[in-house]
Formats: sequence, structure tokens, C-alpha cells
Amino acid sequence: MKPTQIILLVIVLTFSQCFHDEFKVNPAKGDQPIITVKYLNTQIKNHSTNVTGTITLLENPLLHTTFYPSPSGCPGSAPVSVSSDFYHCSLAQNAGFFNMETLACLGPLVSDGKIIQNPSTIQSSFGITKYGNYSIGYIDQSTINDNVFQNLINARIWLIRAGKSFVDESEKIEKISQNFLNERAPRTAIGFNKKGQLLLGAVNGLESANEGLNLYEFADLMIENGFYYASNLDGGGSLTTYYKDKILNTCSDHCGSTNKDYPCPSPQGTCERLVTSIVCLK
Ligand SMILES: *[C@@H]1O[C@H](CO)[C@@H](O)[C@H](O)[C@H]1NC(C)=O
Ligand SMILES: *[C@@H]1O[C@H](CO)[C@@H](O)[C@H](O)[C@H]1NC(C)=O
Ligand SMILES: *[C@@H]1O[C@H](CO)[C@@H](O)[C@H](O)[C@H]1NC(C)=O
Repeated sequence: MKPTQIILLVIVLTFSQCFHDEFKVNPAKGDQPIITVKYLNTQIKNHSTNVTGTITLLENPLLHTTFYPSPSGCPGSAPVSVSSDFYHCSLAQNAGFFNMETLACLGPLVSDGKIIQNPSTIQSSFGITKYGNYSIGYIDQSTINDNVFQNLINARIWLIRAGKSFVDESEKIEKISQNFLNERAPRTAIGFNKKGQLLLGAVNGLESANEGLNLYEFADLMIENGFYYASNLDGGGSLTTYYKDKILNTCSDHCGSTNKDYPCPSPQGTCERLVTSIVCLK
């Protein structure tokens, strides 16, 4: 190739990794969030036991969806129940990935129009813009710095794009380990249906016992449950769905010095993990 061709190729590759899709958020209004929680209990091919979890639907996402850091900010952590009460959420679910040693939030985080952090990253993100669009995919730093986002959270793997699994494609861009894709584990997702209503997915499991779903199975199950687009948020022991003073999922972290005051109802002897960010519906 000639040098000019190489330069062109580099430009194309650079820009092709910055693509994202936009979709209009359902404009339904109202003072209160309109939330429906559906319980999952379903047979999955090659699984000996049913997969359980929840699908949360928010009919009017525009004024009722915020991504928050823990009450002590980023870095920092708190149980989802504590953050949920602190921010007066109707329903809260754990959100972004974080460094479990330093408690640093990973990737960009925009909370109620405020840029909390915006590092360079090759991970996908999920956001809602100030002009009322979902924005999902590989969003560059400068777009975020232009203050177009009302809320934005980092994800690992863009799960579903226009109704189809996008796991293989995003794996190539995000360079995620095969183990992260293939292991069965508790999973959480954020996305929306064709009407532009917000959806949260949560699937129970136990990472240490390879129970739960791999990301391919997770994408397929979320498509069956109405997701048109979805991003994979932090799963494993972080999975926590908190609604009306109750934890709806099964937990997997044992109770220890930091979390013993936040027991989970099931299974016995487990407690909430302290996480760095939440999706708050309020
Ligand atoms: C919002 O998303 C739609 C696609 O669903 C697009 O046509 C429109 O241009 C976007 N709005 C802005 C301001 O970018
Ligand atoms: C497992 O899921 C199937 C639906 O896929 C359902 O009919 C069945 O009752 C479930 N089994 C249990 C034990 O809950
Ligand atoms: C189920 O297991 C078989 C044998 O291990 C494998 O060939 C097949 O791809 C699996 N199916 C799914 C849906 O994972």
C-alpha cells in the first residue's frame, strides 16, 4: 500500500470504532415514574435449571432516569439500597464497572447533566442526551465534553443492536476476554424497546459456580423480552435490583466486614456488594 492509502485506512479504522446509534426516547411525561417489574423464570437450552431474574420497564424515561455515583462520589462505593435511599429512587439497580481495589469508576459517567469523569476508553456506553435521544455505542470523549449528555454510563459489550445480538461484533472492538463472554454469571443490562421505553434486565446466578448466563445467552434472552437495544452493565456479585425496600435478586457475595449490615434475603448468608454507581428510576 502507498503511504496515503495507509493513512486513509488508519482514519477509517479510527472512525469506524467511534460509531454509535441514536433512538428517540419515549416522550411520555408524568410526575412519577411508571414502572413495571416482571419476574423471569425460564428454561434455557443446555441449562439444567431455570434462569430467574427481573425485567424492569419504565414507560416515561425522560425525567425519571439518572445514573448516580455512590453518595461519596467516584471513587467510592455503597450498597445499592443505601444509594437508592440517598437519591430517593423508586427502583435502583447497580450500574457501571469499577475497580474493586481502588473503587474507581471505570469509563465515562455523566449524572444529571454533570460530567463526573470522562476518560478515554474503547468500551461502549449507554446514555440519554439532553435533546431526548438514547445514544448507545462508542462515543468519543469530545462529544461527551460538548455537554450533550444528561446521563451516560460505561458498559462492557454492546449486547443488542437493532433487535439483533451484537456480542461478536462488539467483542472485536472492545477486546474483551473470552472468559468474560463465555462464563455463566449473574448479568445486568440496560436498554430500550421499539417504543423507546427504558428496560433493565437482571439475571440471577453464581459466578463461582458458573451459574447464570453467558453473554450470548443473555443477549438472546433480553431480545425475547423486548429489548431492541441493550448494553451489558456490571454483573456477577454486583447484581442488585432494589425496589420498594426489597432486594429482588439473589445475591452472591458473602457477608464480611464492609457489607455485613446489608443482608440479602436470599440465599442466606449473602450480603449486598458495595458498588460505585447505580441506575436510579425516580
Ligand atoms: C435523535 O435520534 C434520531 C434517530 O432515532 C435522529 O433521527 C435524530 O437526528 C436524533 N436527534 C439529534 C438531535 O441528533
Ligand atoms: C421453568 O420454566 C418454564 C418456562 O420456560 C416453566 O414452564 C416452568 O414452570 C419452570 N419451572 C420451574 C421449576 O419453575
Ligand atoms: C449446547 O451444548 C452442545 C454440546 O455441548 C453444543 O454443541 C451447543 O452449541 C449448545 N447449545 C447452546 C445453545 O449453547
